[in-house]
Amino acid sequence: MSAKPRFYVTTPIYYVNDEPHIGHAYTTILADVLARYHRDRGERTFFLTGTDEHGQKVQQAAEKRQVDPKQHCDEYVVRFQEKWEKLNISHDYFIRTTDENHTEVVKYLLQKLWDDGFIYRDTYEGWYSVAEERFLTDKEYEEGDWREVKRLSETNYFFKMSEFQQQLIDYIHDNPQFIQPDFRRNEVLGFLRQPLGDLCISRPKSRLSWGIDLPFDPDYVTYVWFDALTNYITGIGYPQDPERFKKWWPVDYHLIGKDILTTHAVYWPTMLMAAKIPLPKTIFAHGWWLVGTAKMSKSLGNVVRPLDLADKYSVDALRYFLMREMAPGQDASFTEEIFITRYNSDLANDLGNLVNRVTKLVGRFFEGKLPGNADPTPEDADITEKAMALKAVVDTEVDELKINIAIERVLEMLRDINRYMDNQAPWKVVKTDPVRAGGILYTTAEALRLAASALHPVMPAKIMELFDIFGIPDNAFPNAHHWFEWGFLKAGAPVKATAGLFPRIDKEAELASTTDQKSESKPKPIKIKPEVAFEDFEKLDLRVVTIVAAEKHPNADRLLKLQVDLGGEQRQVIAGVAEYFQPDELVGRQITIIANLKPAKIRGEVSQGMILAADDDQSIAPLVPIIPVKNGSKVR
Ligand code: ME8
Ligand code: MG
Repeated sequence: MSAKPRFYVTTPIYYVNDEPHIGHAYTTILADVLARYHRDRGERTFFLTGTDEHGQKVQQAAEKRQVDPKQHCDEYVVRFQEKWEKLNISHDYFIRTTDENHTEVVKYLLQKLWDDGFIYRDTYEGWYSVAEERFLTDKEYEEGDWREVKRLSETNYFFKMSEFQQQLIDYIHDNPQFIQPDFRRNEVLGFLRQPLGDLCISRPKSRLSWGIDLPFDPDYVTYVWFDALTNYITGIGYPQDPERFKKWWPVDYHLIGKDILTTHAVYWPTMLMAAKIPLPKTIFAHGWWLVGTAKMSKSLGNVVRPLDLADKYSVDALRYFLMREMAPGQDASFTEEIFITRYNSDLANDLGNLVNRVTKLVGRFFEGKLPGNADPTPEDADITEKAMALKAVVDTEVDELKINIAIERVLEMLRDINRYMDNQAPWKVVKTDPVRAGGILYTTAEALRLAASALHPVMPAKIMELFDIFGIPDNAFPNAHHWFEWGFLKAGAPVKATAGLFPRIDKEAELASTTDQKSESKPKPIKIKPEVAFEDFEKLDLRVVTIVAAEKHPNADRLLKLQVDLGGEQRQVIAGVAEYFQPDELVGRQITIIANLKPAKIRGEVSQGMILAADDDQSIAPLVPIIPVKNGSKVR
């Protein structure tokens, strides 16, 4: 007997400093859908994700916040972990590159490659991209549009990547599945037509201390990619647990965005070749989520946060949208309008309505008990056949990573079922032939059950809810014998009434209430408070202060704890601006406060006064004197 198939999938480990957005959520949900799909098929599955925590940017961010880099990472990693939990991500392990187990194995691997002569020491001069944390080739430098580039000369350690160039080219030719989609493989082969240089794998500690020590030279730490890529094997027990490692490696899919194709399709395989480890089965680089037609970026202020959508429309609606809307090789465009259109047509209409219709009719005409179908017609047989064939169709698409097409196949099925129901019109038939009407409803419900199970990996919570409506116990799917065969639902089974799995969204109303729409619409009439006498105004003591220190409030996400200089006197003021400003952006700035407001404790911290700030419902802007003035100056 052959062993059960096994499946191992990874996401990139995300930079711990990043604010997770729908791009990160996309790769992670895609991995989750694949993992769940394979689990549902009864395969042994391992799903690895995590965070990339070493390097210059983390070191700098921690310095700015005046915290230890590890502490910085510990605080920031939670932003990923919490989001993945909310989005129902079912990873088996979350790896952090600061995990001791990981750092030890990176050292082991470096030592091994050093001992085997694949690493050497040399002085190198070239163009260094601070943003990319790597030296650029001269060609890249000339052709690219790089920000933050400087000329650097440094003694460092190098990995003999060039030795593996031909071996890698041959491997790519012999293994068409290795780099996917095909046009990405051609891109990599194009890159490999130029002579491949060696890879700088170290940084002197004088410049970067936040990294893993080179085991053979304590004055250096290892370069970020050598540390990061290795996570894919340290996360499954390399080399301490060879049994476990052999169980999962080689990985089935490294899912990545197109931004990190070269590192994964060139650096990583050559590292593995040197270490005599087999190469990944498939590196799959997906496209880019754009917002409308623009790149998502903090500076453009158009970053789409996954939880905003999940909170508003449900986690599964977000998962569905991301999986359905992107053809995994291509870029895709996000707007709330596209989201709502997709939601209404697929989820509210094709799926949600079907559920509503069947459950209502069974409730109304059959006392909430599923009727049977003793005498199937050719139309019934047609739907039955299609529903039973669906699984194989979807399997094929998923195995080629055409998740969007796989979903479309299920939706086509749902539309077929809806059409079947329209044509058979059980609500009419019931008046003359209740038994036949029951047969139609049975056929509809059973076809729906089979179609829904193919969507389970994409919308695990909603599909379990759907099964529950049909009285299917939690543990039946997908383990039950005969699950994927016709006839699992039995006549007489209770069918619950439902308030609707996917309530329709009123698109116009919803879009009118989103912020970007709001800013274009007419300003609200301004309501001015009742008049006050000048003496009343004079009771307020308004002063200019300089912010000398700022940190997050220990107990509240929206608050910052500011230390301000009032001219000879220092005070603490709590301000509700944490969503709009990083603490370090504020240090050194002059702002204005009410200095004689009665001190108060805000979430456990004393606030001696209050800052003055403009509030337009979208952001909060502290008021500043337009030229510097002495601290403590009066505001009149
Ligand atoms: O590059 N559309 O981490 P990172 C789609 N630490 N996917 C997107 C996206 C977008 N607009 N933006 C980001 C790193 N992604 C390294 C990886 S791996 C050993 C080390 C996703 O935080 C996509 O998967 O910059 C991309 O490859 C990844 O986030 C980059 O995440
Ligand atoms: Mg990036």
